[in-house]
Amino acid sequence: MKYVFGNWKMNGSFDDIKKFKKEFFSLKLPKNTKFGIAVPFVYLQKMNEIFSKKCEIGVQNVGFADFGEFTGEISAKMLEDTKAKFCLVGHSERRHKFGETNEVVNQKLLSLQKTKTKAILCVGETKEEFEQKKTKKVLKTQLEKCLKNVGVKNLIVAYEPVWAIGTGLTPTAKIVEDTILYVKKVLNQIFGENEILVLYGGSVKPENANALLKSKAVDGALVGGASLDAKKFVEIGKNIA
Ligand code: 13P
Repeated sequence: MKYVFGNWKMNGSFDDIKKFKKEFFSLKLPKNTKFGIAVPFVYLQKMNEIFSKKCEIGVQNVGFADFGEFTGEISAKMLEDTKAKFCLVGHSERRHKFGETNEVVNQKLLSLQKTKTKAILCVGETKEEFEQKKTKKVLKTQLEKCLKNVGVKNLIVAYEPVWAIGTGLTPTAKIVEDTILYVKKVLNQIFGENEILVLYGGSVKPENANALLKSKAVDGALVGGASLDAKKFVEIGKNIA
């Protein structure tokens, strides 16, 4: 089984959802692939009504506290209440554009773990760190800090090199495989034997999906731009099924 999760980021409208729905339902989905889409909070309910039978609907962020004076935030309990199936945590855009630290990411994961909503923890190195061959060191620190006291339940990890996000650049298939094997090794050190899925994200397109994700070590993809187009999104699933 392979997993294809989309991340719509701050994109989409009710008109776009109508168009996506029409296309998505006209396509035959590959059998051994599971689809999910992380949507902006405001579209969660509508998307769930339309897609929940064929595709898991989740969100892209969560507040770190359970409730209280946190104007503008949405808690893990609220996500559970509104039937979000999963939630991205620590996406590189949250880390780099909103200053989220590993400690905040850790609090968000702990909060989510009190609910039924799955967490997809995103980790990845910057271009500079990649060039300085610090990828493993960075990933180990991110994983250890973000997963402090976090349980193995309802947890998925996505390896997303920051420099590959939205740039059209990707690591080689060999680097993707080796890095994901390394992430799995660190997860084994933290949790012991476990079945945590590890996805790859960063400029995944129908044309490169097979090459990048065919390794058995890679459990699937986290797709940004290409997930806004139903045809491309499903084609990625077909190409890695
Ligand atoms: P792109 O697929 O647009 O590079 O984005 C990847 C991403 O950030 C998914 O979370």
